[in-house]
Amino acid sequence: MPSPVVAPAEGDAWGQALLAAVDGHDSVIMVERDDGLIEPDLFVARNYFGEPDSWSDRDHWAIERAVGRVLDLGAGGGRATLALQTAGRDVVALDVSPGAIEVCRRRGVQQCFLGSVDDFVDTNPTPFDSTLALGNNLGLLGSRTGASRLLNALAAISTSDAVVVGTGLDPYATDDPLHLAYHEANRRVGRSPGQVTIRVRHRALATPWFDMLWCSIAELAELCEPTPWRVVDVYPGPLYAVVLRRV
Ligand SMILES: C[S@@+](CC[C@H](N)C(=O)[O-])C[C@H]1O[C@@H](n2cnc3c(N)ncnc32)[C@H](O)[C@@H]1O
Repeated sequence: MPSPVVAPAEGDAWGQALLAAVDGHDSVIMVERDDGLIEPDLFVARNYFGEPDSWSDRDHWAIERAVGRVLDLGAGGGRATLALQTAGRDVVALDVSPGAIEVCRRRGVQQCFLGSVDDFVDTNPTPFDSTLALGNNLGLLGSRTGASRLLNALAAISTSDAVVVGTGLDPYATDDPLHLAYHEANRRVGRSPGQVTIRVRHRALATPWFDMLWCSIAELAELCEPTPWRVVDVYPGPLYAVVLRRV
């Protein structure tokens, strides 16, 4: 007889993993791609609650370029928000995960917004000088159309000479046949090779499927063309950081 269990249940897997970590439990997430590839993102507390002295040079390069009032896009456990807030900066943590925002609050973040940038456009009172997207959150551009939409929404809540500073990954820096086959399958249907459809798993929970967009710096520059943003500075590498400036 087949098992009666229908799993995984859809929910805030990201937030539940962060809440478990803030409560002191070992907390692990898995990232599942729609071709079946499952990769672990272990040590949630270490990766997403770490103090700046445990961060990569790339993260330091990025946060140093986030000037003025900052929007921490996809703040997660709030490590970047807290570093800036502790330095006396005006910073807002934004995340679509209720659990992530609860964790930010519990860890002392003073300004939080639960929702997407689209949701925030109508409610944000003061424009931002910088948007910070650490944790490879440049991937939140999502797709070619998603990128225009997000970059235009960020422009709507930014000052006229604002920057977007973020980290991302170059999808072409691989010889893994699974990734190469995924790129090829994307090309065949007209998607950008580095667009990935994934969901995050924690215990028996899974987020809804969503798209992340991994792109080369050249592709990122091309995505910016129809928007008010231009690539003006790069921390190079397969794991890179960039500064986009509003023009
Ligand atoms: C990889 S974590 C990065 C966390 C944090 N930036 C860091 O570096 O520690 C990604 C975060 O982005 C959030 N997220 C995912 N999609 C989002 C969206 N469309 N808008 C805002 N946040 C989103 C997730 O809920 C999660 O907290």
